[in-house]
Parts: sequence; structure tokens; C-alpha cells
Amino acid sequence: MEPSLQTAYAGLTLSSPVIVGSSGLTNDVDKIKDLELAGAGAVVLKSLFEEQIWMDTQSMLEYNDSVEATSYLQSYVQANNLKQYTDLISRCKSECNIPIIASINCYHADSWVSFAKEIEKAGADALEVNIFKLATNPNEEWGHYERLHVSILEHVKRETNLPVIIKMGQRFSNIVAQVTQLKANGAAGVVLFNRLYTPDIDIETMQITSGSVFSSGEELGNTLRWVGVVSGQVPNFSVAASTGVHGITDPIKLVLAGASAVEVCSAVYQQGVSVITEMNSAMKDWMKEKGYRNTSAFRGILNFYNIKDQSLYERVQFMKYFSNHK
Ligand SMILES: Cc1cc2nc3c(=O)[nH]c(=O)nc-3n(C[C@H](O)[C@H](O)[C@H](O)COP(=O)(O)O)c2cc1C
Repeated sequence: MEPSLQTAYAGLTLSSPVIVGSSGLTNDVDKIKDLELAGAGAVVLKSLFEEQIWMDTQSMLEYNDSVEATSYLQSYVQANNLKQYTDLISRCKSECNIPIIASINCYHADSWVSFAKEIEKAGADALEVNIFKLATNPNEEWGHYERLHVSILEHVKRETNLPVIIKMGQRFSNIVAQVTQLKANGAAGVVLFNRLYTPDIDIETMQITSGSVFSSGEELGNTLRWVGVVSGQVPNFSVAASTGVHGITDPIKLVLAGASAVEVCSAVYQQGVSVITEMNSAMKDWMKEKGYRNTSAFRGILNFYNIKDQSLYERVQFMKYFSNHK
């Protein structure tokens, strides 16, 4: 019998754990149909950005910056951006069969998240919340950054009954404790990790420039470690992997480490949609060879909880690495 790639993720049923991450790949129905045809288990739509709405409002306000004008324009820009977004969700729902996960990108926990209600009405299957903020303020109260994530989650959950998935950065002192808090406050899952644009410096012009927008395969190890640790330490909770998934056998490794879903983005930009088909075939071939009929039979068998020697996910690797390099 052909092995099944069917997977449960954040209350959804996916035909494959390989899903496409939020990006320009998922901002148009025709592109999404191609991703579905290639075998994507779901797509996360391009984010609706809080910052973009703020910037659009500011650019329109150049010559007219009274308080009334600001507030009027802000509601206008919000309504317009939201309408385009909910139209995209409705079209995807009528023309595709895979789950459609909407995405909002925010950095404040205020009424902005009322958008979630409209997103639910438009038919989205779940909502990924991409929290895009770095802790750089020395005067901020200790723990503020961690609490902000929980507070945004609470605000969003007040607006919607959709499964809410938090796409996290990795700049927490204790990632496992943070995920535990998100689970306790009703998150349906987490994505590890959001990838921030990295800065570079041009030493000729002495300007800050931007590093590569795409990840590299070398970034997979960090994702693999935290998927393994979090899925082992926070049981019965959906974890999706994101960042550095390029090789066609990478999704197998991530499911072994405990991932319920594996988001791909840079790999699809660089290798085309066929990489999704190849990842699905590689997983099926491997499952046949190992005798697994479905993904739950091997999900997490190599996570932090299930392996005998937990230090394999920790520091021992560091010592081995350096002692082998004279
Ligand atoms: C061109 C581009 C646009 C992106 N836009 C978004 C976005 O709108 N919202 C979001 O949450 N992530 C966005 N991302 C981040 C990806 O969803 C993903 O988390 C990141 O690229 C790491 O995954 P990867 O290694 O598979 O590329 C974008 C990435 C790229 C390359």
C-alpha cells in the first residue's frame, strides 16, 4: 500500500506536511493553484503588514497631517488593504482545495488585530501571526518582549475562533518556556522560526546594506535543534519548521524531530515549485523503505524527549566537533 503523507497540524488536516511559507509566492490565486498542483499540503498567504499600513498612511499624509486627517486616512488605508486581502482569501477558498492559512504581521498588541475577524469571515482556515519585533530598548521592562507575544495572541484570540499559530523569532532567553506560555494561552501551534532580514555593511560606501533575503541550507541545523527540543518538551502541540529547508530529504528529518508541518520558501524561489513534488516523493520513498505507512508513525521519534542521550541536541556536539578538528 502507498504510504500516506496526511498530517494533522494546528487543527487542520494536510495532504502533506510540506507547506509553502508566507511570501510573494503566496500572494496570488494562480501561483497558489500551481503550489497545490505541485503537492503543497497548505499555503500561508503573504502577510498583511501592520507596518505597511502605517507607512502607506504616512506617505499619503505628506501634505496634510492634522490628527483628523491621520485618523481618517488610516481607516481608509486599513479598509482598502483589508478588502484586497479578504478578496484573495475568498478566491483561494473557491478555487483551491488545500487549507489556506492567512497571515498578519504585527508589532503592537492593540485594536489593529480586529482584522482577524474579517479574515475569518472571508473563509481562512487558520491564522498565522508573524510577530516582527526585536528587543533593542534598554529601558524596556525585563520580560516585556516575552509578554508582548502572549498579549498579541490574547488580542487576536478575542477576535476570532480560527486556530491561531504564532510565527516566532528566536531571540528569547528560553524558547521552550515561551512556547509553553503560548500553548497555555490558546495558541494552536508555533512556527520555528521567522527569519529576519539581516544587515550587512558596505565598507566602501560605509552604508548599512541588507544581507541575502533567501536562507541557505546551512541554517537548517538550528531549526532542526529547536523543533526537536520544543516538540519533546511541549507535548501534544503543533510545531512547524521554517528556515533553511532546502534539501529534498529535509522534511523527513524535521518530521523525525517532531515537526507537524514544514514550511518552504527560499527553496521554492530558487528551485521552483517542483521541489515540493520532489520532497513529497522523497518522503514516500523513504517511508516505503523503512516500512512506515503514515507520518504519525515516525513523527517525533527523534525528538528531545524520545532520544536516549538528550545531550545530542545540546553541548556535547560542540565538544566533539572541536576535539575532531586538531
Ligand atoms: C521574498 C520573501 C518574502 C517574505 N514575506 C514574508 C511575509 O510576508 N510574512 C512572513 O511571515 N514571512 C515572510 N517571509 C519569510 C518566510 O515565510 C520564511 O519564514 C523565511 O524565508 C525562512 O524560510 P526559508 O528558509 O524556507 O526561506 C518572506 C521571505 C521571503 C524570501
